[in-house]
Amino acid sequence: MEILHISAECYPIAKVGGLADVVGALPKYQFEAGHIAKVVMPAYNTRFFHKHEFELVHQGGCWLGHSWHHFNVWREVTNVLGFDLYMVDIPGLLDTERVYGYYNDTDRFLTFQIAVLDWLNEWQHHPDVVHVHDHHTALIPFMMTHSYKYERLRNIATVLTIHNAQYQGQFGWDRLYQLPGFDLWKAGLLGWDGAINPLAAGIKCAWKFTTVSPSYLEEMYTSAAGLEALMNYEKGKAIGILNGIDVNVWDPATDPMLPVNYDLKTFVTAKRDIKQQLCEQYNLDPELPLISFIGRLVGEKGADLLPEIIGRSIFEQKQQVNFLLLGSGDRHVEWSLQQTRLLTADNFNVQFGYDEALSHRIYAGSDFLLMPSRVEPCGLNQMYALRYGTIPIVRSVGGLKDTVTDFGDPGGFGIRFVHAEAWDACQAVDRAVKLYSNTAQLQGIIKTIMQLDHSWDSAAAEYLQLYSSVVVR
Ligand code: ADP
Ligand code: GLC
Repeated sequence: MEILHISAECYPIAKVGGLADVVGALPKYQFEAGHIAKVVMPAYNTRFFHKHEFELVHQGGCWLGHSWHHFNVWREVTNVLGFDLYMVDIPGLLDTERVYGYYNDTDRFLTFQIAVLDWLNEWQHHPDVVHVHDHHTALIPFMMTHSYKYERLRNIATVLTIHNAQYQGQFGWDRLYQLPGFDLWKAGLLGWDGAINPLAAGIKCAWKFTTVSPSYLEEMYTSAAGLEALMNYEKGKAIGILNGIDVNVWDPATDPMLPVNYDLKTFVTAKRDIKQQLCEQYNLDPELPLISFIGRLVGEKGADLLPEIIGRSIFEQKQQVNFLLLGSGDRHVEWSLQQTRLLTADNFNVQFGYDEALSHRIYAGSDFLLMPSRVEPCGLNQMYALRYGTIPIVRSVGGLKDTVTDFGDPGGFGIRFVHAEAWDACQAVDRAVKLYSNTAQLQGIIKTIMQLDHSWDSAAAEYLQLYSSVVVR
């Protein structure tokens, strides 16, 4: 089987969140399983693009409405990532420092999708499946089926994976003319709720679509940021496949970002040493349980609840506990965390920004990882925490529900709470603190979670089964 993944992010080249981790890992597992897996992504102005060896495989140009854009497609020649990597370089649009957040993001990703299809149109031998990820690439199934110039691509199966339906990439109908020509009576396939909605168009036009956990799929039938009716209508094409993690990158026994590596035999002392270093760095008492949070500081992740969770735990409940946060996002949340810190500096610290190496040290050196998410399509953090012997405290939602069972239930190992509210999270914190004081039980749980298998093997097999059900041979 030959699979072409098209994505805006891919680890380690350009990462904003879990999308990158998935696109950097799944193709590797597909490649190892004997398939041809290729990834095509934008050539942002990244270190990776400048430091690795690439060959030019295609040069072209395309119109976006009235603007002409020249583009180059580069292939990484050493297969350093374990799959074929192609990067599309569009000067003036994609050669940016960041992945998203520009005034012309719509133009950037529209042009990217058109350039990729123009290039694919020229291939002698086409892939069996084109697998697109999230709204940035979700117009591709529509264009492959309906744009006149891509007629040759019509029989290639398309799969869309929804990593996060909160972001849909909507833009106005006044830009309809920017899409490569098609019968205008098909335009309805692009629309949802008065605008062109790339994610909705992907759901309508992809041959199959997936969500990144089964529970998230179930939730989307009743809560999908406005797409509920469409989800119900297209139910027959949907399947929830739980993400895996790259167990080679995320392995406490070999992780080069950790000051000390550890395994089942050495975790007690190693985790204690890493925690000690973290606590010294962030001015916290290493004797207390350390509860951390890593992620985007946005409402979806319940980040706005963190100041109240920390304040209540320390002042109302008088918990003997430390909190450490790493993340960036909503200015208002950042400001309230700064205010909270002024009052609770002995028990709480926060590092604003994005720091991959620090995140690894926090996964390893913490006792618990808190995820009070309102929406969590899958969540990778809890799986990284498990592998690093750190107990997840999660709200029962989406992928968190599919990966964490409560230690109060038979065979359970984590801490779950139901409501995305501070009082409920505080009760979970209370349970964590009590668990921390029972060393034998705590270490038993750590041994269990470090042995759980969250590798991509089973998810990769599920994707292959899905492709086989649609590929035309
Ligand atoms: P999402 O994609 O919704 O942000 P996920 O749980 O799927 O959530 O993935 C988040 C990924 O981004 C994880 O690999 C996590 O470690 C990483 N991450 C998030 N915020 C930061 C940060 N501030 N610094 C380093 N890594 C981060
Ligand atoms: C999204 C989701 C997250 C998921 C990730 C990878 O960013 O918010 O829950 O883990 O994609 O699929």
